[in-house]
Amino acid sequence: MRVRVSPSYMEKLYSFYSPFYDAIFGQLLGPGRRRAFQYLDRRPRQRILEIGIGPGSTLEFYPPRTELVGIDISQAMIDKAREKAARLNSGSTFDLRVMDAGRLEFPDSYFDAVLSAYVITTVSDPRQVCREILRVVKPGGQIIVVNHSRCQKSGHLSRIEDLMAPIFVRIGFTTDLDVIRVMEESGIKILQSVRCNLLNTGRIITGTKQ
Ligand SMILES: C[S@@+](CC[C@H](N)C(=O)[O-])C[C@H]1O[C@@H](n2cnc3c(N)ncnc32)[C@H](O)[C@@H]1O
Repeated sequence: MRVRVSPSYMEKLYSFYSPFYDAIFGQLLGPGRRRAFQYLDRRPRQRILEIGIGPGSTLEFYPPRTELVGIDISQAMIDKAREKAARLNSGSTFDLRVMDAGRLEFPDSYFDAVLSAYVITTVSDPRQVCREILRVVKPGGQIIVVNHSRCQKSGHLSRIEDLMAPIFVRIGFTTDLDVIRVMEESGIKILQSVRCNLLNTGRIITGTKQ
């Protein structure tokens, strides 16, 4: 059975990480995050939501004149992201707010695109978060998720991923979640999934709302 931790546990943990998150995870997870932006439509003036924006490691990758809304459960992360946004001069607007990804405070079909990097495996109810992503994106809009996703075939690798999960969830993410399947089961139409990061441990998963 999957081990779950509460949103308040994650909020405290990631607030604790916030001063040094970029120095550690920022670099390690950087290649997948950067590459994900190759899949984003470059049209200016899109309204885009980034879920679990952390310290704002992606802000510089958005096309010029994007209307970006970034949310995170951690106030400390949002403070870091705001500091970063204040230093950028891309003509974009950055509206950065504390919010739970499982309860998005936006109307249905509000965003042209929704992105989320390394978040689905940190939330206590990934299905609910995927349903919320689907609800707020426009029909035909882009959904881009960067994440580790548990191996779909049973074998040594998936067994190791399952064994590691109770340990890794305490340090901020789980390893036993088949993210692609959860997205599909939530109603997201998966378009492609490409491997990324060191040892191909990550995936860039693109999808849409039909
Ligand atoms: C592994 S970090 C990823 C940060 C950033 N997206 C990146 O690319 O490095 C996970 C982020 O998700 C946030 N988070 C965890 N649970 C959340 C939730 N329920 N709602 C919103 N954000 C959440 C954490 O505070 C943290 O900033």
